[in-house]
Amino acid sequence: MDAALTRDRNFIGGRWVDGSGAARLTSTNPASGEVLGVVPDSGPQDVDRAVRAAAEAWPRWRATPAPRRAEILFRAAELLVARKEDLARLMTQEMGKILAETRGDVQEAIDMTYFIAGEGRRLHGYTTPSEMPRKAAYCVRAPIGVVGIITPWNFPMAIPSWKIVPALVCGNTVVFKPAPETPLVATAFVAVLEEAGLPPGVVNLVAGGDQAGAALVDHPGVALVSFTGSTDVGLQVAARCAARGVRISLEMGGKNAAIVLDDADLDLVADALTWSAFGTTGQRCTACSRILVTPRTHTGVVERLAGRAAKLRVGNGLDAVTEMGPLVSAAQRARVEQYVAIGRGEGTRVVIGGERVAPAGFEGGFFYAPTVLDDVRPHMRVAQEEIFGPVVGVIRCATLDEAIEVTNGVRYGLSASVFTRDVSAAMRAIEEIRTGIVYVNHGTIGAEVHLPFGGTRHTGNGHREGGLQALDVFSEWKSVYIDYSGRLQRAQIDRE
Ligand code: UN1
Repeated sequence: MDAALTRDRNFIGGRWVDGSGAARLTSTNPASGEVLGVVPDSGPQDVDRAVRAAAEAWPRWRATPAPRRAEILFRAAELLVARKEDLARLMTQEMGKILAETRGDVQEAIDMTYFIAGEGRRLHGYTTPSEMPRKAAYCVRAPIGVVGIITPWNFPMAIPSWKIVPALVCGNTVVFKPAPETPLVATAFVAVLEEAGLPPGVVNLVAGGDQAGAALVDHPGVALVSFTGSTDVGLQVAARCAARGVRISLEMGGKNAAIVLDDADLDLVADALTWSAFGTTGQRCTACSRILVTPRTHTGVVERLAGRAAKLRVGNGLDAVTEMGPLVSAAQRARVEQYVAIGRGEGTRVVIGGERVAPAGFEGGFFYAPTVLDDVRPHMRVAQEEIFGPVVGVIRCATLDEAIEVTNGVRYGLSASVFTRDVSAAMRAIEEIRTGIVYVNHGTIGAEVHLPFGGTRHTGNGHREGGLQALDVFSEWKSVYIDYSGRLQRAQIDRE
């Protein structure tokens, strides 16, 4: 691991500092158990220092012209490009996914940073005629204040970038609390922002777990919380924010379905869904975890998918031949095992997988075989609850209508896909599926940064990350009226 990339401390007010208490978090490699580093397990005092630093830095940062703020972000993007390979290797070691994917994660952060930094020269509002003569009317985006950012471990650089970069370009300051599983990647990202020239206090990092997260959510100095994680935790965070009138943006779980119609190209389906179900070891909120087949596509899909799953090389993500890495932690593997046991109990058939794997030399890692469950019914727990592991269930549906109903019949609404060459069927699916992202002839993963990302119902709370819509989370509208008539002009008062 490249120690020059990472730090073993919090970053507060422009300085790398120790935690206020003695508690520490250990970062370990889930493939090998190797200890990668130790960081503070921060508490309320650390969070308080970080929020104060962010509040102190805010007036100057918000007064800095947005194009100047963006210049720093462009420099950060350049540094990420220069360090992409090293950052990817660090990320593979810290959370397990294979190098091709961690390169993709860093690339997503690069893409997001370039894309949103470009907004420094736009951040468009609009001008519009007033109802009255000699009166100007327009609106501008205004920053919100100190933003608390809480992120998961599955995209340890991309997701922080989705939040931190738009927060900064809009003129907010940030306190960032990354997942306890991936603190080192978080320090590497913040070190890049520091080197790019962010003024002290504009971004602050507090490493830690639930205690630090709760302190950030409850801190009176935080004006907005942006959270990505499980629906259960997200809804609790939302309740706490709502009680105090704090803004909240949520990106939570998924139970993403792919519909395979009679005329689909089944080899394409198998390639796409192998990637979609087992990429990132199934630990994406966009992972495909339900495949809805017709009576005619059922056997072809199950056989092809099982064939591909059987050949997937599971092992250490740093090894160039590996196609699927470990789960992030023992707890995550236990969760997957529990769900497979639930699936068995519910009467599903384990076509392939359903057990641990112990690749040679990495017997202590948290590996689990890519798993296909057949005979899944829509109401079963394995078809309703987010598993977040390499487990996909196959559900039979008689018609497109039934498949759409099953797709929509979960509490989540992140992404979905339909495989067909029939344009009318595809258009109907696009229209009737209630998710934030719909794919045609493509799996359920792989959203691009310049389109809105997020979901309906219990996946989110109406906000979107990515796209220009990200700016709506991190800014608020200010409407401006300038009356240069020199006399009183009253709106909404009828003229005599
Ligand atoms: C996530 O799983 O939390 O669309 C994010 C995708 C990626 C992002 C996934 N670009 O799969």
